[in-house]
Parts: sequence; structure tokens; C-alpha cells
Amino acid sequence: MDLVWRCLCIICTLAVSIRHSFEQKFDFASYYGDYMVLQREPAGAVIWGYGSNGANVTLTLLGNVINISQIAQVVDGKWKAVLPPMKPGGPFTLAARQENTNGNVTVRKITDILFGDVWLCGGQSNMEMTLSQVINSSEELSQAVKFHDVRVFSAALEQSETELYDLPRVLLPWSVPSAEVLGAGNFTYFSAVCWLFGRYLYAKLKYPIGLVESCWGGTIIETWSSPRVLQKCIPARSLSRLPKVEAAPLQSSVLWNAMIHPLLNMTIKGVIWYQGESNTDYHRDFYNCTFPAMIDDWRESFHQGSMKQTAEDFPFGFVQISSSEHLSKSEDYPILRWHQTADMGFVPNARMKNTFMAVSLDLVDDRSPWGSIHPRYKQDVAFRLTLGARAVVYGEKVSFQGPFPSKINYTEKVVDVTFSQEILYKGFSGDLFQFCCTDKTDCSSAYAAWETAQVVDHSSNSVRLLAPCSNDIGLRYAWFNWPCSFKKCLIYSADDILPAPPFIFNRVRKYKIW
Ligand SMILES: *[C@@H]1O[C@H](CO)[C@@H](O)[C@H](O)[C@H]1NC(C)=O
Ligand SMILES: *[C@@H]1O[C@H](CO)[C@@H](O)[C@H](O)[C@H]1NC(C)=O
Ligand SMILES: *[C@@H]1O[C@H](CO)[C@@H](O)[C@H](O)[C@H]1NC(C)=O
Ligand SMILES: *[C@@H]1O[C@H](CO)[C@@H](O)[C@H](O)[C@H]1NC(C)=O
Ligand SMILES: *[C@@H]1O[C@H](CO)[C@@H](O)[C@H](O)[C@H]1NC(C)=O
Ligand SMILES: *[C@@H]1O[C@H](CO)[C@@H](O)[C@H](O)[C@H]1NC(C)=O
Ligand SMILES: *[C@@H]1O[C@H](CO)[C@@H](O)[C@H](O)[C@H]1NC(C)=O
Ligand SMILES: *[C@@H]1O[C@H](CO)[C@@H](O)[C@H](O)[C@H]1NC(C)=O
Repeated sequence: MDLVWRCLCIICTLAVSIRHSFEQKFDFASYYGDYMVLQREPAGAVIWGYGSNGANVTLTLLGNVINISQIAQVVDGKWKAVLPPMKPGGPFTLAARQENTNGNVTVRKITDILFGDVWLCGGQSNMEMTLSQVINSSEELSQAVKFHDVRVFSAALEQSETELYDLPRVLLPWSVPSAEVLGAGNFTYFSAVCWLFGRYLYAKLKYPIGLVESCWGGTIIETWSSPRVLQKCIPARSLSRLPKVEAAPLQSSVLWNAMIHPLLNMTIKGVIWYQGESNTDYHRDFYNCTFPAMIDDWRESFHQGSMKQTAEDFPFGFVQISSSEHLSKSEDYPILRWHQTADMGFVPNARMKNTFMAVSLDLVDDRSPWGSIHPRYKQDVAFRLTLGARAVVYGEKVSFQGPFPSKINYTEKVVDVTFSQEILYKGFSGDLFQFCCTDKTDCSSAYAAWETAQVVDHSSNSVRLLAPCSNDIGLRYAWFNWPCSFKKCLIYSADDILPAPPFIFNRVRKYKIW
């Protein structure tokens, strides 16, 4: 009896002290801090944190022109409020004042807050590469301080088997850019593609940009996807087989759980993504399902998590993977590039709405100190991505897609490929068009025989090929791991900025005109 009482008492004391220490914690969630950028109008920025159950929290945004107050109640140790839509600009101070049931008042403040567009940057090592690893690194680093209104934040590398509601650890708290912050090391904060994308956007938009990095080298898309995505796209028996990767986490959903799910409660403008290399030899042929399905799932989840402030169709930009292993004859890279577009070759398309893509197969770098899989030409990658954002997200009339066939006319001996826009025919890499005779093989098979199609003529928007074949043909372009040397593929936009993306059509007659 006595023992039972004593045990009960210990449990009671524990419960009281846990409750007590829990009640004392009053703060913002991990990713709110000094120097942050909050999402501007038309959305309202979501702010949340921890507090004592039953207490009221008053949030006040203090600025030169306006002061705004919002009240939230603490439930289950958390409070949350949506600020009214704010015009871009600042700075503001955000004060959170908690008055608990004893009348005890606590105040937390974050200062130098700007309103602007918040972009989340995800993916693997090519997104992780820093400004100290790119071409013209020292020049880029020395310029960083000039962009005071582009602010950066980085989530730490963490994995979890369950969905977390806050980041377990922050790698880089919200910071004003400097050479130290942006060039801290190799593959550690801060992402060069993310930074350059933000600063190119800033140059156009002239209002603050917030950049949130959450990425991990060597990772497969399955780690960043919720179980909903994997159930939809991957047969259960395939999920148990894991790829042979060294240092990266491999288990399904572990990075979704620890590095994406916690961020759902903040309001964001959109996402950029640079990933896929690790899926060239793992679940490659599910990527045409997993990637679009992950985009859909992130959109739905961010919309719900932010009390509908993040748009349910928010823009999603991505980099079509570059090239590695010069001599590889494998088709893993071209097939993955194709799957990145849901097998349509270009975006946005019917399956992948409100997306934009930076083609990078010609930004090769076999002298990169980090291996050819890590090209240093991140300025070009980010610039092409920015063109996509400017056109798709910000409504600017700027060209952002390379030439893609709009018509293929196959007559007796020649194939006329007409492009959707004027082209620059560079004349390099003349072997990039290939055909396959359907009278010899099934062109959709992995064993189909593809041969070089000779270019016999070209005009301002078309290319004529010889196709010595009596039956229908398959036709493909740039279907190589490493199709050309730096910026020397065959076909570009007339202004020489955007390369034609790779394509494959297994039966040309069937698609004669579209
Ligand atoms: C008031 O709350 C703070 C933090 O929540 C705590 O540190 C302090 O001890 C409390 N004071 C009283 C009088 O309860
Ligand atoms: C906002 O609040 C601060 C601090 O209470 C005060 O000094 C300032 O005058 C207020 N500004 C406006 C525009 O009301
Ligand atoms: C919190 O606000 C509600 C509604 O305004 C009020 O009824 C309640 O007494 C407040 N609680 C505390 C602890 O001040
Ligand atoms: C690197 O800097 C040089 C000299 O300023 C410039 O000509 C070149 O375009 C830059 N390269 C990149 C990739 O930014
Ligand atoms: C980054 O990588 C380069 C090339 O391998 C190396 O020279 C340099 O020391 C590395 N820097 C750091 C901070 O590790
Ligand atoms: C993805 O590609 C594979 C291989 O080409 C194909 O079998 C599959 O049907 C495609 N899936 C989708 C959803 O398009
Ligand atoms: C954050 O979003 C998740 C997912 O929608 C939700 O379950 C959770 O309650 C939200 N957290 C807060 C503090 O509102
Ligand atoms: C296809 O090419 C043939 C031969 O050059 C030409 O006569 C015909 O008009 C072309 N058809 C289309 C639809 O462009």
C-alpha cells in the first residue's frame, strides 16, 4: 500500500514538474527570428510558437507607419495567428506578449523583419553547393553584402520516422547575407542556386526575398515524399529494396518528416528543387509518377498547414539534371530528365501545371573539384530558373523555354522538325538527332537500335533530317548522358540563352502534327 502511494506520488510530482516546465516555455517556433522575411500580400503570414495552455498571446507588429495586433490562444502548448496581408517592405519588429492564467506576462521580440516573397529551396547536393564552390566564387562572395534585403535561412540535416511539427535543429538562423554566411564551406550552408535565384529575382522585383534551404546531398525523392505519394506511385514490394548510396538517408519519408513537414505552417510563395541524380539508378521509372505526385502533395500540405495562406497551386520550379560521367553510354540520365517532365519534355504541361524548369544538360563541367556530377556553373542554372519564375509566377513577357518540336513531318526520305520558336542552329554536336526504324525494332524497347540522323538542312525554325527507312521511325534529340560540351549543344533559342530540351518520340507518324 505504502509503496503504491509512494509510486503515485512520484508520478504526480513528475507530472506536475513536466507540466510546469512545459508551461514556462514561451517562444516563437524555430524558424522565426531576427532578419527574417515573411510572405507578403495577398497571403497573410502565419506566425506560431509555444506557450502556456489557456494563456492569451497578443502579437504586435510594430512599424514606422502601422502597428497591428492579433490575439491567439494557447492550445496544446501552441499558439498560431495569421497576420493581415502586408505590402512588401519593412523593417518591422514583431512582439509576442503572453498573459497566462496567473496574470504573469512574458514578452518575446523579433526584429528587422521584412515582408517579401519566401522561396523554399530543396533537393540534393547540387542545391547544397555553396557560393564558394561556383565559378567566379570570390567575386560573387564579395558582392553578397550588397543584397541586404535578400535574407537566408537553412534547416539542419535531420531525419525522423514520424512527422515533426517543428525543425529539430536550425543550421543557419535567418541572416543578412555576407561572404561568411554564403561561403561557409563545401556543401554546407548556404545554397548557391537558391541564393542566386533570390538575388536575380530581387534585381527584377526590387522588394525583399526570403530564402529557406532544406536539402541533403545524395538523397532520393522517396525520402522527401510523404507515404501518400509512395503509396500512389510505388508497388509495395519495390519499396523495401534500397539503393546503394553512402552517406545519405535512404528510408522513405524521413526527410519529409523532419525537414519539410515542420515548415508546412509557414506561408511561402513557392519552391525550387534540384534533385534527381540519385534516382537515375534507383526507382528511375517511377520518377514520372513520384515527382509530379510529390509536387501535388506538397502543395496540398502547405496549403492546409498554413491555414490556406500558401496557395494550393503554388509555383514549383526545378532544374532538369545536368550531365556526369562523360563516357557513360547509359540512358539513365536522359530517361530521368524525361521523367522530370512527366514524360512530356517541357513544362508547364497538363500534368505539371504552374511549374518551370531550367534545362542544364549543356552546363557540363568535367573539371569540377567535386566531380563532374557537381558542375560549377550555377549562375546559368539560377538565371534560367529565374526566367521561368519571371514568366510563370510574375507574369513578365519573357521567354523561358528552349525550342521544342511543334510539328514533325515525315515523308519518304526526310523528316522536317519544326520548332515552336525561332532557333539558333549552332552546328556543334551534329550527332544529337537519332532515329530508330520501326521495321527493325520496337523503338520503345530498351534494346531498340538508334542511329545518328544526318542533318541535311535547317531554317530559322526547323531542321531537316535524312531518315533512310521505309516504315515509321522513332526520333530523339540529345538522348545522351553528356550530349555536348559547355553551351555547345546543337539547338538553342534565337538569343542563344536557352537550349532545346531533350526529347524522344517512339513513333513519329503517330505524332505527325501536334
Ligand atoms: C512568469 O513566466 C516566466 C516564463 O514563462 C517564468 O520564468 C516566471 O517564473 C513566471 N513568474 C511567475 C511569478 O510566475
Ligand atoms: C507603434 O507602437 C510603438 C511602440 O508602442 C509606438 O512608439 C509607435 O508610435 C506606434 N506607431 C504607430 C504608427 O502607431
Ligand atoms: C483570454 O481571452 C479571452 C477572450 O478574450 C478571455 O475570456 C480570457 O479570460 C483571457 N484569458 C486570460 C488568461 O487572460
Ligand atoms: C565570371 O566573371 C567574368 C569577369 O567578370 C565574366 O566575364 C564571366 O561572365 C563570369 N562568369 C560567370 C559564370 O558568371
Ligand atoms: C572545399 O573543396 C576544395 C576542393 O576539394 C578544397 O580545396 C577546400 O579545402 C574545401 N574547403 C573546405 C572548407 O573544406
Ligand atoms: C513512367 O515511365 C515508365 C517507363 O518508361 C512507364 O512504364 C510508366 O508507365 C510511366 N508512368 C507514368 C505514370 O507515366
Ligand atoms: C502545422 O501543420 C500541420 C499539418 O497541416 C498541422 O497538423 C499542425 O497542427 C500545424 N501546426 C500548428 C502549430 O498549427
Ligand atoms: C510535309 O512535307 C511535304 C514534303 O516536303 C510537303 O509537301 C507537305 O506539305 C508537308 N506537310 C506538312 C503538314 O507540313
